Amino acid sequence: MSATASDSIMETGTFVNCFLLVISLVIIPVNGGYDKERDALLKGTFPQDFIWSSATAAYQIEGAWNVSDKGPSVWDTLAHQDNNRDTGDVACDSYHKYPADIQLMKQMGLKYYRFSISWPRIFPTGEQQDGVNQDGVDYYNNLINELKANDIEPMVTLFHWDLPQALQDRYGGFLNNHTTNTTVIHDLFGDYARFCYQNFGDRVKYWITFNDPWIIALEGYGIGNFPPKHRDPAEGQYKAAHNIILSHAKAYHIYDDEFRAAQGGQVSIALSCDWGDPKYPDDPDTVEAAERYVQFFVGWFAHAIYKNGDYPDVMKATMARKGREEGRNSSRLPEFTPEQKAYINRTSDFFALNYYTTVEVADSGHIVTENPNYFSDMDVEKGHAADWPQTPFTWLYTVPWGIRKLLGFIRDEYGDPDVYITENGRPDHDRDPAILMDMDRICSYMMHTNEVMKAYSLDNVKVKAFTAWSLMDGYEWLPGYTVRFGLYYVDFNDPDRTRYPKASSVFYKQLVRNNGYPEGSDFTKYVENMWYFCHNTTEAEVNGYTGGASQISSLFSLFLAIPMMIAYPLIA
Ligand code: BGC
Repeated sequence: MSATASDSIMETGTFVNCFLLVISLVIIPVNGGYDKERDALLKGTFPQDFIWSSATAAYQIEGAWNVSDKGPSVWDTLAHQDNNRDTGDVACDSYHKYPADIQLMKQMGLKYYRFSISWPRIFPTGEQQDGVNQDGVDYYNNLINELKANDIEPMVTLFHWDLPQALQDRYGGFLNNHTTNTTVIHDLFGDYARFCYQNFGDRVKYWITFNDPWIIALEGYGIGNFPPKHRDPAEGQYKAAHNIILSHAKAYHIYDDEFRAAQGGQVSIALSCDWGDPKYPDDPDTVEAAERYVQFFVGWFAHAIYKNGDYPDVMKATMARKGREEGRNSSRLPEFTPEQKAYINRTSDFFALNYYTTVEVADSGHIVTENPNYFSDMDVEKGHAADWPQTPFTWLYTVPWGIRKLLGFIRDEYGDPDVYITENGRPDHDRDPAILMDMDRICSYMMHTNEVMKAYSLDNVKVKAFTAWSLMDGYEWLPGYTVRFGLYYVDFNDPDRTRYPKASSVFYKQLVRNNGYPEGSDFTKYVENMWYFCHNTTEAEVNGYTGGASQISSLFSLFLAIPMMIAYPLIA
């Protein structure tokens, strides 16, 4: 950097500091929630081989829903059921635009990319015996080759929710014979995984079998809002989860037995979890309730896969008691046979974690109801603290310290595994004009990655990777295109689906380049400047769209836009 450029940066930096200081003196923290000690910025860096990545999922970005022989998935079916619903028919058209997308990653200095393969794009009916769609195989080969040519390692998810519709129709999807040893869906998932290892495994060294089985089971087969919209709140999610765990184990063993020696890759399952924070931390019942929440959430899958092949004790005991109270012969939570337990146990090479939010948990006492469901089964009350910033999703509050606590829990509970954060991100609304100066997202990434660094360097959690969700705006499932998660903005009204960088992509690039928050760097100074604001503003202040303190909002958005615009050239 030339002397003149660096001088002017320093001068601008000083100006920004003074400007922020003045504002900080007049600002009334409307959002609170800032604990000076807990939330302090930790300076330092991640290890040299730390993985910085971003992620997408096939249905959310590919489009090309019916090109060549691709079969419909359950999401295609749902999206087409209702004329008013957004569809993933074109989405970001990444099926055609993937080389340009790879350049977006390259620009940010990313060395890894997590994407998913669409099962019905490979096997149109989900079954190999019915035929393989060679164009689909070619597409993923080309994508992987282009990534490798650009020095970007693929991390591949086999199942990110787009079940072939034919498998739902023929076998009931993940409800197929959930208690037998000969469940068709396990074998079919195994065949599909084997085909992917065979065709792509020479270049893919990281495999994720399922993305977020919690939501597949709960929303797809319990609550029934997601496809296949099977509504059975008492039992559906437990049956589906049972099958997903066994299908995962099958795909793991196939890799282990047939491919690991030659290909040398790793296999995991991406589990999501809210951190459950006790509402009354001094009350033992509350603390137990919060633990129960986390065990029902991540433990539902992780306990079997990482600990002993079985569901958490607290989940089994709670469900057994509920079964008795409801006058049933057995628990609504299915049981694994001893052989299945042995088969499932330790079927993951690293812990893949998706983290978005935290909930505040209290004990509800024993809930006895004629209409039990997953949440009543936990015997908890959940909510959020008044000072946690909310996002366009009613379930998603920005609580960065929750990820540190959750990482500590994973270290202690699952034998100190390597942890890859496979998703973390923050949504905003689709707005006109577009939100390109996405301060809320910058703050979120800044604070979450700093909490991850605390987990790594202060708590000795073996965190190996951070993955930003998402590379670009995509089809956000039920809300369609009304909610945006991307580092890049996608214009969905433009037939070309042009991508535009958001400020967060520039921030992420600097974060990757600095590998954290090194003492004394210009980037860390910028972050220090922003730290106060990030902990005292919400989207209301920044983007002015949540109503509420609207007078204050617009004033703050003005104040905040200015330092950001001054700082922008520093980080570009
Ligand atoms: C899913 C993503 C989704 C995100 C936000 C995650 O659990 O994996 O596909 O976009 O949640 O809803």
